[in-house]
Formats: sequence, structure tokens, C-alpha cells
Amino acid sequence: MEFISKRSRYVVNPLEEEDAIAEKLRKKGKEVIELNRGDPPVYFKTPEYIIEAYVSALKESKTHYVASAGVYELRNAVAKRYKRMYNIGVDEDSIIVTQGVSEAIQFINAAMINPGEKAILFKPYYPIYIPYLLNYGGIPLFEKYSERLKWNIDTDSLEKTIKKEASKRPKYMLITNPNNPTGTVLDRKVLKEIVELANEYDIFLISDEIYDEIVFNGAKFTSIGELAKGMPHMILNGASKDFDATGFRIGFAIIPENDKKSRQIKHAILQYAQARLSANAPAQYAVAEAMNNVKEHNASIRAMVKEIESRVNFATKLVNESSYLTAIEPNSAFYLFPRINKDILKIKDDREFVKRLLIEQQVQLARGSGFGEEGYVRIVALAEKEILSLAINKINEFCKQHSIKR
Ligand SMILES: Cc1ncc(COP(=O)(O)O)c(C=O)c1O
Repeated sequence: MEFISKRSRYVVNPLEEEDAIAEKLRKKGKEVIELNRGDPPVYFKTPEYIIEAYVSALKESKTHYVASAGVYELRNAVAKRYKRMYNIGVDEDSIIVTQGVSEAIQFINAAMINPGEKAILFKPYYPIYIPYLLNYGGIPLFEKYSERLKWNIDTDSLEKTIKKEASKRPKYMLITNPNNPTGTVLDRKVLKEIVELANEYDIFLISDEIYDEIVFNGAKFTSIGELAKGMPHMILNGASKDFDATGFRIGFAIIPENDKKSRQIKHAILQYAQARLSANAPAQYAVAEAMNNVKEHNASIRAMVKEIESRVNFATKLVNESSYLTAIEPNSAFYLFPRINKDILKIKDDREFVKRLLIEQQVQLARGSGFGEEGYVRIVALAEKEILSLAINKINEFCKQHSIKR
């Protein structure tokens, strides 16, 4: 008898794939430069006022189960944030607090997908979108963020795909804006076209906006909530990146409209939330306080984004000086997604590139194919410049050793 379910094989996280090798190298006394995980508090301490709010919540014994949808204080803080930042009116009842956006992704698929139903995703995708969709028997219908369009969406191609699928309409379309792994903010014009397509073909539109405050190089972010007023849609966000608190495990799903479809989806997601009782209680109170403390938050996020901008631009310049890699300049998040110029390398694919780079130079990256885009690597540019510089020198050295010219 097979004790493991067939669906378990879908659950792979390409970001952790090389961890066992890295661990072995460390045991042998080698220092590994980890540029594979997008975890800001490792490099920028979670701001003190947020930590204090968490400690207060603990001291006030807010350590019990709370409402499955999330504590009112946090839902109210989220509603105020969206009014303040984007002039989007959302009611507290439109918000469901989850244990990170990751859990929201699980709930969405559980609530919406029957076996054989499709969902539109875009390559390169955030890897965690896939296993939950597959687990519920869903089928991804892939469109692309196009490198040619500086990683924006080619809406003509999207429309063709949607038209082709019109009879067996995809259930939802999920975009990531700002984007992981490309570090790109989607154009407002592109977003408007996406909203129109979703509306015309009756596809539920979801926008993962977890990096909405980590935007730089003059880019302007637009929340889908600003453009999709009056039609069913969902915004995902959380405390992990903007509030520099990945370990708190706080995310939220906002379903602002009150039409029948929105109400049904909200209800079904809430049932899943009820089945897992509640998200981390003290963290919810802490994030509520942090979100309402606009002055402290603005000061912290501005300082962090300024430093991230400087590190990302520094790394991009170094990468583009190399003849082995080519990156589109990011304007958000903290990732670079360079193409490997494989024509000049004796390396089969990005999987081999990442594995050998780790073994030979002790630099850990994530492979593009883990994001659905073979031939690229993702570099997390959160580390200090000296470390980024050292790592990119090592990448160049590795490429030189595997160059066809050698
Ligand atoms: C686009 C995107 N969505 C969601 C997540 C996961 O967020 P959370 O920590 O809220 O689960 C990440 C984390 O890297 C991400 O990049």
C-alpha cells in the first residue's frame, strides 16, 4: 500500500532545492553566499516599533485563538491603509487574514478549483502558485511576462489565449505586481487591458501585490483595486515584505466587491479559514498597530527601499558588465532575473548552472526553470554591496571556467 498521496509529488519548492548541498558545504567549513531567498528581515531588522507591538500583544495575553477571518483591529487597519494609499473603499468584512499570502493561495484554489478546471498564470511565476493549483486538480494555462516588454504582459497574446479557451473559461487569472522574480512593476495601461479582458470574459482577477511599497527607480505602482472597481476581483498582500516581518506569517485577501460571485468566493474562503481556526494572534495585533502607525512605517519603509534600490542597482550594473549574464533593470521588490548567455557557456541548463555554481563557488541562486522560465537565474539583491560584489565576481569566475572559449 502506498502511504503517500499522489498529489504530494506536486509540492516542490525550487528555492530550497539546493539546501542539502549548501548544508554539506557548510559542514565541510565552507562559507556559502545565499542569494536564493527573498527574506528581508535577515538583512534589515524588523523595525523596533513592530517588535514592541508584538511584545505588548504577548504581555496583554493576546495568545488565544481569534476570529478565523482575522481580528477586527487588523481588518480595520487594512481597510484604512487601502483608503489612505489607493483611495479604495473596502469594508472590514471584505478582508480575510491568512497565515501569509501563501495560505491565501491555498484557500483560493481550495475554494475555486474543481478537477480539470483551468487558471491563467504568467511565466515566470512565483513557484508556490503551482502546487496548490495542481493539488486541487487544476490546470495552469500559461501566459508570459515578456522580457521583450521589460517583463510586462503582452495583452494581445493574452487575449488570443483567452478567446481560444472561451468555451471552457478559466476560473481565475493571477498576476504578480510588483513581480517576483523579475522585479518589475506592471504598466497601468497593461493593467487596464487585463482588467477589461477579465471583465469581458468573466474570469476572476487576482493580483498578488505583496511588494506594493517596495518600488523605486521612479516607477509607479497601480493596485488592481483602483482599476477593477465594480467588477469581481481580489487583492493579496501582507506583512512579510512591506512590514519586513516574514516570520510573523501574516497575509490578507481583500475581495472588495459585493456581487454574487465575490460573495460566494469570500464565503468559501472563510470556510477554509474556519477549518484552520485562526492565524497567529499576537502577530495580527502587532501588524494592526504597525499599519496604523503611518509615521513610523513611512520612515522605516523609505529607509529600507532607498537601501534596496541602491543594492539592486549596484548588482544590476555588475551583472550587466558581465558578458555571461544579461538583466532587465528592476524597479521593484529586490530580485534580478538575468538571462544566462548559454551560447558562450558549456553548461546544459539553469539547473546545472545553479548546482555547479554552488558546489564550485559556494554561491546559492535559484534556477529560472523553478519559476517556469528555463535559462535564467534569480538573484536576491538584499545583501550588503560587498557581498553582492563578491558573489557576482564568483559567478563571473565560474562562467569563465565554463566558457566555450577556454
Ligand atoms: C509574489 C509573492 N507572493 C507571496 C509570497 C509569500 O508571502 P507570505 O510570506 O505572505 O506567505 C512571496 C514570498 O516571497 C512572493 O514573492
